[in-house]
Amino acid sequence: MRISVIGGGYVGLVSSICFAELGHLVSLVEIDPEKVESINLGKPLIYEKGLKQLLSIHAGRNLHARQNYDAIPASDLSFICVGTPQGDDGYADLSMIRSACRSLGQSLKDNDDYHVVVVKSTVPPGTTEDLVMPSILEYSGREPGEIGFAINPEFLREGLAVQDFMNPDRIVIGSNEKRPGDLVESVYHGLAAPIIRTGLKSAEMIKYASNAFLATKISFSNEIGNVCKRLGIDVYEVMKGVGLDHRINPYFLNAGIGFGGSCFPKDVSALIHLADRVGVTPVLLRSVMDVNEQQPLKIVEILLKSVKDIKGKRVAVLGLAFKNDTDDVRESRAIPVIKELVGRGALVAAYDPKANASMREILPEIEYCKSASQALTDADACLVLTEWPEFGDLNKEFELMRSRVIIDGRRVLSCRDAEGICW
Ligand code: UGA
Repeated sequence: MRISVIGGGYVGLVSSICFAELGHLVSLVEIDPEKVESINLGKPLIYEKGLKQLLSIHAGRNLHARQNYDAIPASDLSFICVGTPQGDDGYADLSMIRSACRSLGQSLKDNDDYHVVVVKSTVPPGTTEDLVMPSILEYSGREPGEIGFAINPEFLREGLAVQDFMNPDRIVIGSNEKRPGDLVESVYHGLAAPIIRTGLKSAEMIKYASNAFLATKISFSNEIGNVCKRLGIDVYEVMKGVGLDHRINPYFLNAGIGFGGSCFPKDVSALIHLADRVGVTPVLLRSVMDVNEQQPLKIVEILLKSVKDIKGKRVAVLGLAFKNDTDDVRESRAIPVIKELVGRGALVAAYDPKANASMREILPEIEYCKSASQALTDADACLVLTEWPEFGDLNKEFELMRSRVIIDGRRVLSCRDAEGICW
């Protein structure tokens, strides 16, 4: 099939490469010339396991990136994959969706072929019906029925996005007519996953509800973990016992310093605003966010019990990315922790295997180290903030510290004397 993808960000790029891997002819529209060049050269600007290898196979063959919309009229489907960041009011900012619809609509103007517009971006329920459909029809001048509409949310985890795309738990396709939904379904032919067909709004809501539920599991574990900590109980032992109930399952019950990233905080916040708009008080969702705001500060509280006055003390911070296997620091829980430490006059020496450079752009004032050993040398305390597996191998490196106060915010360390945030 001939597929166009609008937006060469993380979702658009991964989807384009994986569509090409599924055998489709893909045209990726991206306004940033640097990204276009890098994609066509087979060198992605983002780090994602397996991505570079697949791109090097498909770039210039069945995947082409371009800055213009010229390839749209010849494609069967266009997937909108632009960002929907959190707006100033906490709601989803749909400005990139609006401009993508305008350009996409204009490009479909002088074309008689049936075309399906698929929204893959995470958008609040009602967006496809109330914004995307009227806008594309207006700018294209086409009649309803000549263009089909569908919503096909993504459930890709950063770091595992290629694996998640190729082995999905489910494929959700929302449409208000059969034909566009069928066409989207045929794109995924060959993938062994249940396909859920719904209306447009339900598919939009499935994405928000999924992310909100996963965020809820994490905040729940963190709250139980905070109680466990006071009672001298290991929350990981507790959650192992809880998660083996198949009605609950063991995933996303890892307590720690909370969830970050470009998705959970933004999507839960958008859902809270959506609930407010329709007159529902989102009691549970607000609490999920409240726990997540408080959780990073708990690790500083624990530190202050061992090191009363941290002013002028060297604190090694291991892990800056919002999770392992990525250099992404958006909404990383390391940010509030480091700000709190700096505000109290501590001297922060940070190390992350991949995210030093991206964190330096946000917090330039702290010291960035080339290795864990360098950060730990002469440190008065160490906080572990990202679940990088390699931190589990650290052992004699802790002997470099001036005083051995080690607090694990992610349950990755294997050394016996590390104190856990919730265990
Ligand atoms: C998340 C969802 O998992 C994807 O399904 C979804 O497609 C994506 O958002 C999105 O909306 O695009 P992602 O943000 O890449 O994916 O990362 P996750 O692996 O879900 O982790 C999010 C945060 O939760 C991280 O900070 C991680 O450290 C934290 N976490 C995760 C916990 O604190 N405990 C856990 O048990 C699991």
